[in-house]
Amino acid sequence: MSALAQELRRRIETRTARAGVVGLGYVGLPLAVELARAGFDTVGLDLDPRKVAAINAGESYIPDVPTADVHALVGTGALKATTDYRVVAGLDTVNICVPTPLRKTKDPDMSFVVSAVEAIAEHLHPGMLIVLESTTYPGTTEELLQPALERSGLRAGTDFFLAFSPERVDPGNATWQTHNVPKVVGGTTPDCSDLARALYATAIQTVVPVSSPRVAEMVKLLENTFRAVNIGLVNEMALMCDNLGIDVWEVIDAAKTKPFGFMPFYPGPGLGGHCIPIDPFYLSWKARQSGFEARFIELAGQVNGSMPEAVVRKIGDALNTQRKPLNGSHVLVVGVAYKRDIDDIRESPSLDVMSVLHEKGARVSYVDPFVPSLPARAWHGDRDLASLEMGPGAFADVDCVAILTDHSTLDYQTLAGSAPLVVDTRNAVKGRYPHVFRLGAPASTGVPARAGAEAAA
Ligand SMILES: NC(=O)c1ccc[n+]([C@@H]2O[C@H](COP(=O)([O-])OP(=O)(O)OC[C@H]3O[C@@H](n4cnc5c(N)ncnc54)[C@H](O)[C@@H]3O)[C@@H](O)[C@H]2O)c1
Repeated sequence: MSALAQELRRRIETRTARAGVVGLGYVGLPLAVELARAGFDTVGLDLDPRKVAAINAGESYIPDVPTADVHALVGTGALKATTDYRVVAGLDTVNICVPTPLRKTKDPDMSFVVSAVEAIAEHLHPGMLIVLESTTYPGTTEELLQPALERSGLRAGTDFFLAFSPERVDPGNATWQTHNVPKVVGGTTPDCSDLARALYATAIQTVVPVSSPRVAEMVKLLENTFRAVNIGLVNEMALMCDNLGIDVWEVIDAAKTKPFGFMPFYPGPGLGGHCIPIDPFYLSWKARQSGFEARFIELAGQVNGSMPEAVVRKIGDALNTQRKPLNGSHVLVVGVAYKRDIDDIRESPSLDVMSVLHEKGARVSYVDPFVPSLPARAWHGDRDLASLEMGPGAFADVDCVAILTDHSTLDYQTLAGSAPLVVDTRNAVKGRYPHVFRLGAPASTGVPARAGAEAAA
């Protein structure tokens, strides 16, 4: 190990290293909190002055990070935030957690990473460790970051240290959080790997070193492609079961009793969030550069991308049983966040369902206890919306309720008891009712009608 590497290692082990986190979002803020809690003087860098002001006021804006934790760490001076890249000159380590979205053409948009790295390069100094955490295509660390940082005249592996470590945060998951989800790390040289491993080991229970940044980049894409493909498979099964008159939910429940070789995935209105709908396309884009067609990714993308339309068809069919057209009907969407118990609407398929319903002339409203308001541009609608309350009277002039995200705080039995018609894409309503149409399941017949059905009909 070089003398520079030894010195940085000593600083990490004695917690005298000064840590920086660039991008204080769903990934960066929890990491900054863990590093500060591990004993480092930690600075968060973000271009959004509102986030920086919130942190410095001791407030969290990420539901998984309690304000009390931020408040305590800011209070002791362990954590602070800034918009000014000049702080990098005084840092020993920097973790980059900026967005990596897709362009409209489904090509990677690396502009956030490039601008962050260029800004860091201006203040890069010998002995620093730079770790990229943003999800990206294999090769990014060595092909994009390394040359950009080396334009400073310093060499990776000799003058500064460079690694990739994918983030696996699962927003809303109370069990698996930043400190106890194993962290994969791959450095451009053995010293780079060793230093990145040493940094994470101070804050995270298990660190899993791999041989290169490329392997670490690919690990993340395998994990998320695995989910995208399996969700695509189960969504196709749901559409098939709809056709065959078989209950896909019953099939999955029985299949998952197999103690080996099967893992349950569940159908729904499509993919959402910043990872699963996006990351696999980083991989297929990179594969295409070398003439390789990533067929599973494309096919899963097609199936998952068709689900909002399939759900609208299901809503139309359900309304049809009551001799109502979609055009002019009032559809109340339950759940607009992309998954249960979180407030994130990025890429949420609920927004696509709402947009198609609107295009077809339906009147759209929504209930989501996690998302109090929805601007018109978010759902491509004609007006800003506010979440309705799911209390008595919520269904007064509603023709159909569409359950798209099954937040655990809502009472689906009461909903089924009061709504005139329900399309349930999450199997949230327990029991079978003639007016509840589930995605991937035949319409129920010969089962008890819901309480009060006659009154509402
Ligand atoms: N959210 C997740 O569940 C999740 C899970 C695993 C991996 N990831 C990946 O982690 C990365 C970050 O995702 P996120 O969800 O935390 O994003 P986010 O949008 O919540 O946060 C990113 C932050 O970076 C800031 N930013 C943008 N450009 C900047 C720049 N040049 N300098 C400083 N700050 C800048 C933004 O203001 C924002 O606060 C992405 O690559 C994402 O794919 C996200």
